[in-house]
Amino acid sequence: MAQGDVNPLQQSIDSATAIFGRRYGRPPRWIVAAPGRVNLIGEHVDYNNGFVMPMAIDRYCVIAAGEANDEAGMTNDEFTSHSSFVIRHSSFTASVFSVATDEETIISLDRPAPHPTPGHWSNYVAGVISLCAERGLQPSGFQAVIESGVPFGGGLSSSASLEVATATLIEAMTGKTLNPVDKALLCQKVEHDFAGVPCGIMDQFASVMCRADHLMLLDCRSQQIEHIPLIDPNVTVLIVNTNVKHELSGGEYAERRAQCESAARKLDVAALRDATLSQLDSQRERLDAVEFRRARHAISEIARTVDAAAALKAGNWARVGRLMYESHDSLRDDYEVSCRELDLLVDLARQRDANGGMIGSRMTGGGFGGCTVSLVETSKADDVGKYLSENYQAETGIEPTVLTSRPGRGAHVVQTPLAGSASAG
Ligand code: GLA
Repeated sequence: MAQGDVNPLQQSIDSATAIFGRRYGRPPRWIVAAPGRVNLIGEHVDYNNGFVMPMAIDRYCVIAAGEANDEAGMTNDEFTSHSSFVIRHSSFTASVFSVATDEETIISLDRPAPHPTPGHWSNYVAGVISLCAERGLQPSGFQAVIESGVPFGGGLSSSASLEVATATLIEAMTGKTLNPVDKALLCQKVEHDFAGVPCGIMDQFASVMCRADHLMLLDCRSQQIEHIPLIDPNVTVLIVNTNVKHELSGGEYAERRAQCESAARKLDVAALRDATLSQLDSQRERLDAVEFRRARHAISEIARTVDAAAALKAGNWARVGRLMYESHDSLRDDYEVSCRELDLLVDLARQRDANGGMIGSRMTGGGFGGCTVSLVETSKADDVGKYLSENYQAETGIEPTVLTSRPGRGAHVVQTPLAGSASAG
């Protein structure tokens, strides 16, 4: 499970570079990277104006790119057949190849339109191109290879990392920069407008602004960030992917959000961030039973996140661990976004307990599958990973994926042409 000495970012960069070279017959001019994230605590509270505390994982979406009309590249008049239509390569198109799906998509830079297949990965790219153009960041034609080390569909923000990597590429190609908050909000809007998911701001803020060796405590109302060091060598972040995704068509997310907003209205507050548990109790009869439980999760989770940040700063790992378990229980019982496989992993973590090197564990991300995040004692991390993996597989017949991660670095340019050699648009 541990990746040993292999640097996953470097692996993604090497692979993207090699594949770009093979496809386009020249080295890439630009290489950018944007990380996925894992949320330690503060789940389903970003859209309630609460606090969240994710970190970037050291797995990145890497894009290697070059101008379409680079000498050795394709000519402006070359035609490519793509699905059921034929499109002309020109300075007005982006040819984007995804290693994961082994598929190239051509996107018009003039009028980036969604792919005919709903939920297609290229919609994230087209969406970012479109919104960047509205802000005056208009690249000329390019070719790109996307190589992502962020597991797809595992609740580790593979889509946010693709959006943020695309925005970072466009910044590099145009030589113009967005301020980090605008960049994250632009990427969030892509998720809303091009993918139809009314997500909060956590994933895109994390991918843009996380710092190596730090957790990011984000106040989702003020958008203020506090970077909290996570450097204790005795504590390791262990991520276990259930490798299940219960397809609930994304509608569950929007429904939870609507229930929270309705609860806030009935409690007469702008957002659940502004309510307290005693206020909720005293006004219980105003809410239906489901709204009550949703609100109880959100209000208590925001408090747990603030509490966990303080405990972290004090090095009180036992307290952080307890808060993680409480967060899981609340997500399972009150918010109802867990599933059998996630619950099993957290139950196994509880059985393992502190004597076995387990500090705390919970589901992470949107839910209904995906990953758990655990804090474990470093010296026992391998054993704990094996224990969780074997028992999970014995019970479910599904092989989980176990990975450890240091807090990674936010989006960055890995390679850019030497000054003077760029002909960015
Ligand atoms: C998804 C969304 C985030 C956040 C989490 C739950 O990852 O994109 O905005 O709401 O779910 O915490």
